[in-house]
Amino acid sequence: MKRAIYPGSFDPITNGHLDIIERAASMSAHLTVAILVNPQKKGLFSFEERKRLIEESTRHLDNIEVICFSGLLAEYCRQNNMEIIIRGLRAISDYEYEIQMAQMNKKLYPQVDTVFLMTNPSYAYLSSSLVKEVAQFGGCVGDLVPAVAYQQLKEKLKGRI
Ligand code: PNS
Repeated sequence: MKRAIYPGSFDPITNGHLDIIERAASMSAHLTVAILVNPQKKGLFSFEERKRLIEESTRHLDNIEVICFSGLLAEYCRQNNMEIIIRGLRAISDYEYEIQMAQMNKKLYPQVDTVFLMTNPSYAYLSSSLVKEVAQFGGCVGDLVPAVAYQQLKEKLKGRI
């Protein structure tokens, strides 16, 4: 693959995201990890915090960059000549939402294609939202997110993790 973009909320990055980043980076010449606004989600971490967590978790990869963008994904792709969007698919329940986004992005920017990577089964149940919820109520999430993200989560949810 040529240049690819892996967009998401990453609030915060999980081990499932990291697995997709590592696999997509090994398949493409250059991977942009793009932190974007999902209007359906309320954020816990700021864009800058999310960016730092991804950068620190991916120091072992030399062909990725992390960016934040507050507009349309299709517009970012058009402005930066990016034609491959990477998304992870965990389960059939993801499919409906993902196909809608893929088709809308194609409508907005016909040159773009979405490539889906199947999530590693070890992370099939994992999402940032669930990690935050479990952490908030004192559950153990130390092995579900990169160490730096776990540290930051502890800071944010002081006393509750
Ligand atoms: O990790 P998420 O929350 O599933 O990622 C969804 C995200 C951020 C990729 C999506 O909400 C998005 O692309 N947001 C940017 C605004 C946009 O382009 N919306 C139209 C999508 S078809």
